[in-house]
Amino acid sequence: MWRQLLEEGRSAINDHWPRCLLIPVAVGLGGALLCWKLHGQKTKSIELGEGWWGPGEKPHSHGEDTRVRPFVIEASEADIEDLHARLDDTRFFLPLEDSRFHYGFNSTHLKKVISYWRNAYDWKKQVKILNKYPHFKTTIEGLDIHFIHVKPSHLTPGQKVYPILMVHGWPGSFYEFYHIIPLLTDPGNHDLDPNIAFEVICPSIPGYGFSGASSKKGFNAFAAARIFYKLMLRLGFHDFYLQGGDWGSRITCILSQMRPESVKGLHLNFVLLPTGRLGRLKSLLLGRYAPWLVGLTREDVRRIYPYMEKNVFAILRETGYLHIQATKPDTIGSALNDSPAGLAAYILEKFSTWTDSSFREEEDGGLNRKFSLDDLLTNVMIYWVTGSIASSMRFYKEGFTRNYNHTPDTKVGVSVPAGIAAFPCEMVHAPRVWARQKFHNIISYTYLPRGGHFAAFEEPELLARDIQNFVSKVEKK
Ligand SMILES: *[C@@H]1O[C@H](CO)[C@@H](O)[C@H](O)[C@H]1NC(C)=O
Repeated sequence: MWRQLLEEGRSAINDHWPRCLLIPVAVGLGGALLCWKLHGQKTKSIELGEGWWGPGEKPHSHGEDTRVRPFVIEASEADIEDLHARLDDTRFFLPLEDSRFHYGFNSTHLKKVISYWRNAYDWKKQVKILNKYPHFKTTIEGLDIHFIHVKPSHLTPGQKVYPILMVHGWPGSFYEFYHIIPLLTDPGNHDLDPNIAFEVICPSIPGYGFSGASSKKGFNAFAAARIFYKLMLRLGFHDFYLQGGDWGSRITCILSQMRPESVKGLHLNFVLLPTGRLGRLKSLLLGRYAPWLVGLTREDVRRIYPYMEKNVFAILRETGYLHIQATKPDTIGSALNDSPAGLAAYILEKFSTWTDSSFREEEDGGLNRKFSLDDLLTNVMIYWVTGSIASSMRFYKEGFTRNYNHTPDTKVGVSVPAGIAAFPCEMVHAPRVWARQKFHNIISYTYLPRGGHFAAFEEPELLARDIQNFVSKVEKK
């Protein structure tokens, strides 16, 4: 999700850079104009729309089957045998000295991961863990939507429970939330505020894991947002909280723009801002020397500029996947869907670099520092057993259409109460002063002391506390 940085860098270098000579003149005038324009923006909502994504023609029979069906994940013997045979047949290539994770997933380390996966990892045991929370499926717009729905197990009489929809991204899954769920549903037993307990709904994005994939072109974050809204209505929730990172952030943002009246609050650990704004460029240029002038804090400066200085190269180095997935996802999809070793390398490389970009320097990509190999492989298995890697990557293709920087959500701000958790190793840092241009009602903004892109997976307690803190502020209003 390097879109913002990529665009910022590209437009700064290609078109706006020469104009920086004109900036001293333009700033006064342009700045005033821009402020007027931004503050004059009315809070509008965006259209909910309609869609149908099943195969062939939409059957024009008697409406959709709206039942919510319990679902249990099964570990099939045939799947396990097939996986083991493929892992046994993995072909490795010649090593490159001193390459660590500089050339992508280090294949010497991959050997270790595969040997563990083949000989020690126990899918049946992991499936039991997956099934410890109740799973369901229901059909919406022609797609099977999979989700887990976890309620607090013990409540004091009269205690309020807040429903919250938590949405994962790529290459993650609903499993990213397994360690945070107990903290949110049973906070009292985890040294958190016992008065703010949640009922948690974590769906799989269509095309990811156990949710069905669209048969039609064009399934994007707008469609996902609408489907999740319909899911919440179907479950009987008319107002609720939202939480997301990565694609989950885009989807929950859009949902809150489609139905602001239903969203009590939106909590994000990843913030996407419309790119190529002259105001932001001005802020970037001046912020280097006079951060106070453009509302950047010292912490913002620490987080932004090391990236900007490495600029074009760092952007190129980390965005190859994005270019592939946004253009020809099915080609790479054919390889990854056929090879568990390839799939693990492709997915886990992201869990390395996106957790901390300095992990490139480690022989094991730093993977062992933050995650257990069981947890990482279970996330890979969710893509493997469902054969969903290609459809998951298509979400980029559908998200980066010709007008991707001018979609309806970029024209309408977010009016619902917003909470932003800024983790220090996140790939793009969004200072509050920039976020305010899109989020008109920021209730909490926190600089977290540690953690990266997969916040719920890596730092469940920090994230849970921040969500609680945000919700308590919203509820007090
Ligand atoms: C992985 O990295 C180590 C440490 O830099 C290096 O010795 C090894 O050759 C690398 N493996 C491959 C396959 O390049």
